[in-house]
Amino acid sequence: MKPGSLMAPEKAHLTLDVNGERIEVMFARHKTLLEVLREDLRLTGTKHGCELGECGTCAVLVDGQPVLSCLVLGLACAGKSIRTVEGMADAELHPLQRAFADLGAAQCGYCTPGFLLTAEALLKQNPKPTCREIEEALSGNLCRCTGYLKIYEAVELAAAWMRGEQAEPRDEVLYGRR
Ligand code: FES
Ligand code: FES
Repeated sequence: MKPGSLMAPEKAHLTLDVNGERIEVMFARHKTLLEVLREDLRLTGTKHGCELGECGTCAVLVDGQPVLSCLVLGLACAGKSIRTVEGMADAELHPLQRAFADLGAAQCGYCTPGFLLTAEALLKQNPKPTCREIEEALSGNLCRCTGYLKIYEAVELAAAWMRGEQAEPRDEVLYGRR
C-alpha cells in the first residue's frame, strides 16, 4: 500500500457455527456480530435497536449465554456456538414461540427474538423459574408494546410445557383479570 493511499479495510474470513451449521463468511473486521448476522449471513431475525447495549433486541446466544450482538465483534465469535431466533423452530415452533403467539406476548414483534432467546437460556438453567426470576432474567430486554406481563406469563406457560406438564393458559391470562 502506497503511503497516503486509501484501501478498503482488510476482510476477515472465518467459519462461524450458527444454529448448528458451520458457515464460511467474509466480513469487514470492524463489524459487530449483529452486523455480520444481518448483513453478511442475511439472518435478519436478530433485530437492530439502540446499538448501545441498552435495549436487548439484538440478543443472541453465544455458547448458550445471552449476548448483546451489537456489542460483540463478529471476529470474537470464531469457534463459538451462535444461536439466533432462526434456529429455534424446527418442524414445529419452539414452545416459547408457541406460548408467545398464544398469549399475545408478541405484538409488533420487534423485541421478540431477543426475549425468546434470553428466555430459552433461562429455562435451560432453571426449568421452573418464579415470576420474579423470569422478570430478572429478562430485565435487560425492553418492549414498547406488551407491558411485559404477557411476556412473563408466556415464559411461565412454555416452561410448564417444556417440563412435560399439560398446562393451559389461565382464563384471566387470556381474557384479563377479573
Ligand atoms: S441493539 Fe443491542 S442492546 Fe440495543
Ligand atoms: S412487541 Fe413491540 S416492542 Fe415488544
